[in-house]
Amino acid sequence: MTDRHDLPAGFRWGVSTAAYQIEGAADEDGRGRSVWDAFCERPGAVKNGDSGRTACDHYHRWREDVELMRELGLDGYRFSIAWPRVQPTGRGPANTAGLDFYDRLVDGLLAAGITPLPTLFHWDLPQALEDTGGWLRRDTAHRFAEYAALAADRLGDRVPAWITLNEPFVHLVYGYALGIHAPGRALLLDALPAAHHQLLAHGLAAAELRARGLDVLIANNLTPVRPASDAPADRAAAAAYDALHNRLFTDPLLLGRYPDLSAYGVGPDLHGAVRDGDLALISAPALAGLGVNYYNPTRIAAPAGPGLPFAEAPIDGVPRTHFDWPVVPEGLHELLLTLRERYGAALPPVTVTENGCSTDDTLDDTFRTDYLAAHLDALARATADGIDVRGYYTWSLLDNFEWAEGYSQRFGLVHVDFATQRRTPKASFAWYRDLIAAHRAASAAPRPAGGR
Ligand code: FCB
Repeated sequence: MTDRHDLPAGFRWGVSTAAYQIEGAADEDGRGRSVWDAFCERPGAVKNGDSGRTACDHYHRWREDVELMRELGLDGYRFSIAWPRVQPTGRGPANTAGLDFYDRLVDGLLAAGITPLPTLFHWDLPQALEDTGGWLRRDTAHRFAEYAALAADRLGDRVPAWITLNEPFVHLVYGYALGIHAPGRALLLDALPAAHHQLLAHGLAAAELRARGLDVLIANNLTPVRPASDAPADRAAAAAYDALHNRLFTDPLLLGRYPDLSAYGVGPDLHGAVRDGDLALISAPALAGLGVNYYNPTRIAAPAGPGLPFAEAPIDGVPRTHFDWPVVPEGLHELLLTLRERYGAALPPVTVTENGCSTDDTLDDTFRTDYLAAHLDALARATADGIDVRGYYTWSLLDNFEWAEGYSQRFGLVHVDFATQRRTPKASFAWYRDLIAAHRAASAAPRPAGGR
């Protein structure tokens, strides 16, 4: 039986975080205001009125956090750069003091033997850009490319690969369609130009990064979509949901076209947002890798009435995380096989850029260990089936600010006491450290004759 110990030699082990969820230091060194600062101030927007103003205070405690990563024996660390630290109003020259923070972090990581993997946008748009339309406005894509160039000019000599966007689907739907996340707009399908402008931003920034000899990835939230039954109406609903969740942000990158959104009454120009030449820019040249954020599959049924062309159906009979998300490790294997079937040779090497679970406030987190082990086993089965998977970055290093859920969902390998900022490794930390060490030792060992 293939399991996690069979992951290929050279497989890269990491953890993943995001700026607004861990940094704190909201007003320091010239950082501008982001849409999340504003959103957290809205009464009722975030559970318990929490905000990321202090979060894990990583901005001051990053040395301790890098030391934890060194203890884990990581190959890579995926973090995000806060755009409002680099350009406080989203435009104009770089704020040197803001970039200095990431410069120190990058040097600290390299000294610990860890390759930095930054994400340029993990949802914290400068509020000044939101005030002029945010991602609904085409100009924001150009501003993003300018920001990407500033960050790459400062860090590109030490950072070989960059992720442009984190989960543009979640940002579109939660931030612009439903208003559950910042910037809190509830535009439903009128939000779709924010999909195209994010992809355009990716394409424009990718050109800047490639011009500097850097590798480009994107981190998409993907989910295997399962129809609730074989009935044609359920299958059609599942296809419609799949187009929105999976294809909308992946087909343009890998196939150079938008999926069929006619079930939504939306044409291929996404409400007039798409212009000539945009798709060529978005799709070329090839991505160095596709980042896959996987948490769970989605079960879809035909809608009961008018409105959206799908309805979400429950997934029963499986364990559930503290967040109440269903635990289906096999979904990761299924997802990767679907990607290969769908994109064939156009599918670049895959890196799992997020996967993990929230648990209750415990150090003895065997639930997490079981979760990670089962997902890594599923990943190993995908590599045995011939999918080129390069690495796995678990979400997350630390308990942190979980967006609209505030501090109520703990995803860390390391427990954080938010009153004292004390870090305490959980049981899963030691488990992950030992797994990485065992995998590395086995990869370095000569293979027994006739063995695998
Ligand atoms: C993902 C986000 C990440 C974190 C995890 C739990 O959708 O990218 O920031 O919140 O979910």
